[in-house]
Amino acid sequence: MANLKKIAVLTSGGDAPGMNACVRAVVRSAINNGLSVNGIYRGYQGMIEGDFIQCEKHTVSNILHRGGTFLKTARSDDFRTKEGRQKAYEQLQANEVDALVVIGGDGSFTGAAILHDEFGIPVMGCPGTIDNDLFGTDFTIGYDTAVNTVVDAVDRIRDTAESHNRLFFVEVMGRDAGLIALRSGIASGAEAVLIPETVTYIDELIETLHTGYLQHKTSAIIIVAEGDDEGGAYEIAEKVGKKFNSYETKVTVLGHIQRGGRPSAYDRVMASRMGNRAVEALLRGETNKMVGIQRNELVLVPFEKAIKHHKQINQELLNLVEILS
Ligand code: F6P
Repeated sequence: MANLKKIAVLTSGGDAPGMNACVRAVVRSAINNGLSVNGIYRGYQGMIEGDFIQCEKHTVSNILHRGGTFLKTARSDDFRTKEGRQKAYEQLQANEVDALVVIGGDGSFTGAAILHDEFGIPVMGCPGTIDNDLFGTDFTIGYDTAVNTVVDAVDRIRDTAESHNRLFFVEVMGRDAGLIALRSGIASGAEAVLIPETVTYIDELIETLHTGYLQHKTSAIIIVAEGDDEGGAYEIAEKVGKKFNSYETKVTVLGHIQRGGRPSAYDRVMASRMGNRAVEALLRGETNKMVGIQRNELVLVPFEKAIKHHKQINQELLNLVEILS
């Protein structure tokens, strides 16, 4: 057992629905294990500035159902410098923090690993990003909610596309991963899903649309992951429009609505499980690992594996888009 008296928890990188559930679980699990807990506002930047809050069980009441993160988050250029990390560590020492739980994505875990390497503080990570682009976990916190948000939006777009016999290109988030696009594309019955993990061929896409048109499809929806190799939704719509104009064409970029909203039950339960497991792992003396979920079982994945490796795209889902479109 590690000799811990106080831990701290922070949220870092792009916010994600379910982060509050994870923070709540870290705080209450730690207190149940006799530990004291600090929350750190605004991620690593708040750590450098000493923006800490003492957390009791009641501090995290009524946040489970709320999107975003009550600890706020920020991207920190200062933390990229040794001086900045030195200040951060001095703040941890001043607040007598013995270990850290970081809820975030690959950049956040990279920072946590460096903090451990330079100062020896034990760190555990919970995967909080809507992109679901971390290796070693089937889901990240926020992904299920974001996919449901996209599906709800695309269902609404489908209503108006069908009314006006239109073709819509809908751009979704994912930075350089297409997992939101792929899952939401299948769930919303998109005619095609364009993702950075596979090469997009404009002529093939036109062929698919033309075939559908000949088969009396009166509308079509193409989901475009923002990092697609052929560009975003506007660029792809323009490239397609040069050779194919059987439908009136519109573009919708969903943007940051994918980052907000009440977390789904799945995200709340998974985030709670991960937060609790992160505390248990620290108590067992673990460090530099992400709590992942594989086939609904929690696993501990070394940071260097979670960050450096790229998640394989599910070929079955890729095939399904074509079969069902
Ligand atoms: O990593 C999460 C994410 O939402 C990406 O999907 C997106 O590209 C990026 O963050 C947007 O970052 P920001 O909110 O800083 O504009």
